Amino acid sequence: MTGGAGFIGSNLVDALLRQGNEVVVLDNFSTGRMENLRSAVADPHFKLIVGDIRDERKCREAVSGVDYVLHQAALGSVPRSIDDPLTSWGVNVGGFANMVVAAKKAGVKRFVYASSSSVYGDDASPVKCEDRIGEPLSPYAASKRAQELFALNVSRVYGFETVGLRYFNVFGPRQTPNGPYAAVIPKFASMLIHHESPVINGDGSFSRDFTYVDNVVRANELAILTEQKEAVDTVYNIAYGERTTIGELYAALREELAKFDPEIAAVAPRYGSPRAGDIPHSLASIDRARKLLGYAPEFDAADGLHRAVLWYWENLKN
Ligand SMILES: NC(=O)c1ccc[n+]([C@@H]2O[C@H](COP(=O)([O-])OP(=O)(O)OC[C@H]3O[C@@H](n4cnc5c(N)ncnc54)[C@H](O)[C@@H]3O)[C@@H](O)[C@H]2O)c1
Repeated sequence: MTGGAGFIGSNLVDALLRQGNEVVVLDNFSTGRMENLRSAVADPHFKLIVGDIRDERKCREAVSGVDYVLHQAALGSVPRSIDDPLTSWGVNVGGFANMVVAAKKAGVKRFVYASSSSVYGDDASPVKCEDRIGEPLSPYAASKRAQELFALNVSRVYGFETVGLRYFNVFGPRQTPNGPYAAVIPKFASMLIHHESPVINGDGSFSRDFTYVDNVVRANELAILTEQKEAVDTVYNIAYGERTTIGELYAALREELAKFDPEIAAVAPRYGSPRAGDIPHSLASIDRARKLLGYAPEFDAADGLHRAVLWYWENLKN
């Protein structure tokens, strides 16, 4: 796996080790943290390679003797890619291509990778279906689309099996609240815990299909396990399939955190201008993943928040 020290990757590592798999992680710790791999490094079935996916040699080392690749490494965040498009492109496109080619050459059975809902770009459909996408609105979105095109092409030209998973706004334990590129849920949680008013970009009416990380872990497992020919060499939306506005998210998160500290109930948000490159609404159809992978997400946004706040409270309060 690549990106195993990150938020999603480390949740995936722990699940795979619990099931008795051998796991090799390649990560350069640019946004990942050793802390996320604390229990993994104590497991004899775990191996860590510190290195960059832009380094072909490291990619070859990471895929040697491996059955499946779960490629999670990327530079996430739309604003980061607008600030520094070359680095995001180098990692997300050049690094991605290195991993696909190394995996193919090493005889890996299947390459499963993290794409993103950002590929829907300016598509105006109220519910996003895999076959209809718009123009990308940021270098990050363009890089994720480039990944899909490269993977689908490698499948077609060389018969190498790939599966792309378009994650929709994933959240859960270990997602960092720190830095200018933090995702909305841990950022809001951290500020609320410290009685600070989070800024809602826009009027709170933008909506997202917030997806608890355990659903994403399960989708990766299913993408590896499927034996149906028509289920591979394609892309899937991975989400819960429900819309939550940022205003509703804020209210739900505040209510959950107020169970730990009643004073949080009084913290009001501030409102700012919408961010460049942001899609107003993002809601997934998960029909294809249901039908072809047997994906049935277990946790809706409310269940996920309920679980995630335990981690936020324990880890962000100091
Ligand atoms: N979190 C989300 O909501 C979301 C949504 C859509 C897609 N994704 C995708 O899911 C994947 C995982 O995202 P995440 O939220 O866990 O992010 P993250 O930043 O927590 O994890 C990314 C991991 O990749 C590693 N990495 C980055 N550049 C690397 C490089 N050049 N070489 C080796 N390792 C490198 C980082 O150190 C980190 O451990 C990414 O591909 C991201 O684009 C995430």
